[in-house]
Amino acid sequence: MLFFIKLSIYQIYMKKEISRKFCVAPMMGYTTPYARKLYRILSNNSFLFSEMIATKTLIYSQNREKIIDNDFNNPVALQVGGSEIDELKKASKIAINYNYDEINLNVGCPSKAVQKGSFGACLMQNKQLVRNCIEALQNDRIEATLKCRLGLGNKLNYEFFEEFIDEISKSGISVIYVHARNAILNGISPQGNRTIPPLNYDYVKEIKKKYPKITFILNGGINNLNMAKDLLKEFDGVMVGRLIKNNPFILKEVDKKIFEEKNKFVDESIINNYFNYIKPKVGLESIFRLLSPLLNIFFSIPNSKIYKSKINEYMKNQNINLIEELLIKFVNEKNLT
Ligand SMILES: Cc1cc2nc3c(=O)[nH]c(=O)nc-3n(C[C@H](O)[C@H](O)[C@H](O)COP(=O)(O)O)c2cc1C
Repeated sequence: MLFFIKLSIYQIYMKKEISRKFCVAPMMGYTTPYARKLYRILSNNSFLFSEMIATKTLIYSQNREKIIDNDFNNPVALQVGGSEIDELKKASKIAINYNYDEINLNVGCPSKAVQKGSFGACLMQNKQLVRNCIEALQNDRIEATLKCRLGLGNKLNYEFFEEFIDEISKSGISVIYVHARNAILNGISPQGNRTIPPLNYDYVKEIKKKYPKITFILNGGINNLNMAKDLLKEFDGVMVGRLIKNNPFILKEVDKKIFEEKNKFVDESIINNYFNYIKPKVGLESIFRLLSPLLNIFFSIPNSKIYKSKINEYMKNQNINLIEELLIKFVNEKNLT
């Protein structure tokens, strides 16, 4: 009896062992609580992320519930943007209260707005501050992690990356996600910053040799599951963004292909399940936000023009049942399940 009481106390208060072999990247405007619900219906094992949320929003927003609701879609990380120590400490506590498994600091976003708020990629200029930020997030009950780039500006420089990780490692961090290209803070857009600076996976391989105990998750340019599987032979884990944003149904292959789960069967009930979840929220939340995790498939799959205009019409009228029927028809016609 005593043993079971001790075990459950341990389960409540200690960090859980979690696989980060396949992670869905944080994406603003996309990895909302709704998207994460859909992703979880499609894959039991993928590690999920919230969108980046500024610490001030997290602490003071009246809408916090809507923005960071977790609804037991674990394993999942809450990503924050910020550099104020007290705010980061509070953010960590909020993540625990909302049952997140991890709190992640964004040190990769190059947008001008984010630079103005003194967070995101510009923090890579101040490695000591980033270390202090990670230390502020650290807590016995949640894993504090980092998502960074290789460096800043046009030129790749391994020494810069190594010195940055040298400093961060002093915090005792155990998981780092690396978007394996530089961020360019001036002259190109956030979109450009996801394609123009060249990728370099070798830097991540190299740093892993120096820090074998840190889990390094590779991110950037992984555009199919075969590539993800091949990279897993050399890296601790992979993080995939746009591939899933453009077609979340790819996730239904992940449990089989990456986690080698047999008997994984996902059928058209995915859409029914998802709609059962969002229907009670129509009227309380924007219809676009509720549907956005599914809308991108119309853009990534050819010959969907008719569907796109119908969906627009049904969305204007908030006709959720017709939208559901249309999506099921589309998904069956294009053989997505
Ligand atoms: C629409 C969009 C929004 C993004 N928002 C975030 C974000 O909130 N936080 C973050 O760390 N990265 C963000 N990213 C970057 C992704 O997490 C990822 O690092 C990048 O897309 C590279 O991975 P990929 O090549 O697999 O897409 C965003 C990317 C996209 C496409």
